[in-house]
Amino acid sequence: MSINTLVLGLQWGDEGKGKIVDALSKDIHAVCRFQGGHNAGHTIKVNNQQTVLHLCPSGALHPNVQCVIGNGVVLSLEALDKELKGLEDLGVSFKNRMHISNACSLILPSHIAIDKVRDKEESIGTTGRGIGPAYEDKVARRAVRFGDLGNIDILKDKVTTLVNYHNKILTNLYGAENFAIDEVLETLNKYKYLYDNYSSDVQDVIYAWSKEDKSILFEGAQGSLLDIDHGTYPYVTSSNTTAGGVSTGTGVGPKFIDKIVGISKAYATRVGEGPFLTELFDENGSMLADRGHEFGATTGRPRRCGWLDLVALKKAVFLNSVTDLCLTKLDVLDAFKSIDVCTAYDEDDLPIFKSFPGWMSETEGISEFDQLPENAKSYIKFIESFIECSISIVSTGPSREQTIYIS
Ligand code: IMP
Repeated sequence: MSINTLVLGLQWGDEGKGKIVDALSKDIHAVCRFQGGHNAGHTIKVNNQQTVLHLCPSGALHPNVQCVIGNGVVLSLEALDKELKGLEDLGVSFKNRMHISNACSLILPSHIAIDKVRDKEESIGTTGRGIGPAYEDKVARRAVRFGDLGNIDILKDKVTTLVNYHNKILTNLYGAENFAIDEVLETLNKYKYLYDNYSSDVQDVIYAWSKEDKSILFEGAQGSLLDIDHGTYPYVTSSNTTAGGVSTGTGVGPKFIDKIVGISKAYATRVGEGPFLTELFDENGSMLADRGHEFGATTGRPRRCGWLDLVALKKAVFLNSVTDLCLTKLDVLDAFKSIDVCTAYDEDDLPIFKSFPGWMSETEGISEFDQLPENAKSYIKFIESFIECSISIVSTGPSREQTIYIS
């Protein structure tokens, strides 16, 4: 019987979703992205080789897995072209296995320019990939969509209107450079092969697979606390990163999903600006950053680090109807004498911590729960009971094999 699974991040992104999606993909027919764009950075390590995917679903490295980019994704053709070519150079083929929704809104170079000039004033600390401005245009009903590449007249009309509008914003509000409409059109046409090869009615494709009883995996990008509605607004991304985004972003109903795997690091990180109540500014914070190699996979920016916030995690479990929790990067905590977790906030919204003795021994690569040190087991068990959700996967390193599956 098929099982449709959703994998999503329960913090501010960078929870290690790429590795888990990749690990779960081997028994799956297709992996679908449903929101975000090339602001995401999903790191996968296979055969000691590290690959970072920004747009391609993380199942891409399994040759028999179909890849889907749903309508909820905002698509930079340039970024997609670069990523596909990079993967093809590594021997990955997308022939007959990439399906991109015609309804994806495109990210134009002018979106990226607006994002960058605007973030200088608004200081959200965006990834500068044009994500916010592209979603704005989608909601304002003026986006150029992937399917428009199939009709040169419509494309020309829509690009002219939109780039004219962007030019007004860029020059009048920010004193920035204009974009030449012809050049934008020329660039889009250069990538028309992506439309010719991969354009698709994603809902139809998923429907057909479901009739064949195939299992499908939906891959979230970013994390629940960056959700436009439920995150730490306004320090959020511009899409619904939470479970509801699957329905709007691919065209399946909520009951289509059987299993929802929420991912959390064993501690917490955040890139960009915005509240982070358990953030550490002491040597523990630097140690988390060093041991966890905490630099953004997309922008290379250092990530802010802190202890795990169980209050926020419990909410995220409810918000997403998480059925299984996956705890990543447990091994990063191996060298800590004591480990804190936030279990409540006081009246000033400051975190109240509970301390756990560290285990001070190596867990990297352990793949059986029983082999974990007792203090690591107690830490995991406490998290499980606090958030009222079972932990079914613990990740102890970046490779596929460095994973504990708990049945
Ligand atoms: P945007 O998505 O580029 O508009 O950025 C908005 C906020 O989301 C910024 O704080 C970014 O650092 C954060 N963000 C966007 N994508 C990711 C991601 O994949 N991982 C972590 N943070 C992200």
